[in-house]
Amino acid sequence: MALKKVGILTGGGDCSGLNAVIRGVTRAAIIGSGAKVIGIEGGFEGLITGQTEELTVRNTRDILTLGGTILGTTNKGNPFEYRQLAPDGSITVSDYSDKALETYKKLELDCLFVVGGEGTLEIGYKFQKKGAKVIGIPKTIDNDLEGTDYTFGYQTAVEVACDALDRLQTTGKSHQRVMILEVMGRTAGWIALEAGIAGGAHIILIPEIPYSIDRVVEKIKLRAEGGSPFSIIVVAEGAKEEGGDVITQASATTRLQGVPQLGGVGAYLAEQIKKRVDLEVRCTVLGHIQRGGSPCAFDRVLGTRLGSEAVRAAEEGKFGVMVALRTPDIMLVPLSQLAGKVRRVPPDSQLIRSAEAIGISMGR
Ligand code: F6P
Repeated sequence: MALKKVGILTGGGDCSGLNAVIRGVTRAAIIGSGAKVIGIEGGFEGLITGQTEELTVRNTRDILTLGGTILGTTNKGNPFEYRQLAPDGSITVSDYSDKALETYKKLELDCLFVVGGEGTLEIGYKFQKKGAKVIGIPKTIDNDLEGTDYTFGYQTAVEVACDALDRLQTTGKSHQRVMILEVMGRTAGWIALEAGIAGGAHIILIPEIPYSIDRVVEKIKLRAEGGSPFSIIVVAEGAKEEGGDVITQASATTRLQGVPQLGGVGAYLAEQIKKRVDLEVRCTVLGHIQRGGSPCAFDRVLGTRLGSEAVRAAEEGKFGVMVALRTPDIMLVPLSQLAGKVRRVPPDSQLIRSAEAIGISMGR
């Protein structure tokens, strides 16, 4: 079925490859169906405010390599639970989903492409149940979405973290220091694990395996005794000490998003290690550098494939699904199967087995 008019929005934290998806959807919908493509600005918030722009082959021409999202995004725009900060500092929560659906209907969309991570796709699923036709496209640097081998944005983040480790290796060796790199990863340690293996880290700490400071220090001392008085540690922001909790930052943004802002585990580790070994310890926090900038080739290809296959699914009348990479193909997975699920690193996985087999300490 040829499509007449489709909409696309990007929600949640940005990552590299979002614009590749927007370009893929736009070109496939125009070339394949002759459809009009409407970009919804600022995630679901654009459906509440009605802020939209038409996307064309011309205005999406040069965005394949561009970081961020030309449509803008937010992780505060859930129309079902819209959080606002009142002047007295309290948070009010309102349901604007009727307003969002009204905009969707007014736009006369045949389909809404929702590009996002677990939170945004869950909103997409609720929106589908409310009466819209939704197709999800999986995004997140954390690579923690169920149903897909990879999310776009992840490989770029791994490349960035690996590059940072290569650079920290040289300073670590030159100065004989313990270098800690704190990377993103709230509840899943994929970035820390794969970047750590690729970047030759000696210790990798992830949210899925609570770490022991004793084990970490043991590994550093073992290396020093063996003639290597420097060590490279990668720690995911959501890593926890055995019996401990995640380390968070308090801010107004945190309260508006309704989830804690993580950060600080690298500095905490540095303090603990300094107390126990006679070596200099330094910490680098990579932060949003992992989310920004040009996507790597893998993410450009994946973004383009997900975008074009999402349009194909819409042309075939398949809604309430997410396009997913099931190597080597792009398949459709029902949104109902994904709601509330996060894909973490299994502590007994082959990947961890390989890391430990070559002497990397997982802090356990
Ligand atoms: O979910 C992606 C992610 O990059 C997490 O790894 C991180 O905790 C979070 O986003 C940070 O979000 P924000 O930019 O809103 O602080």
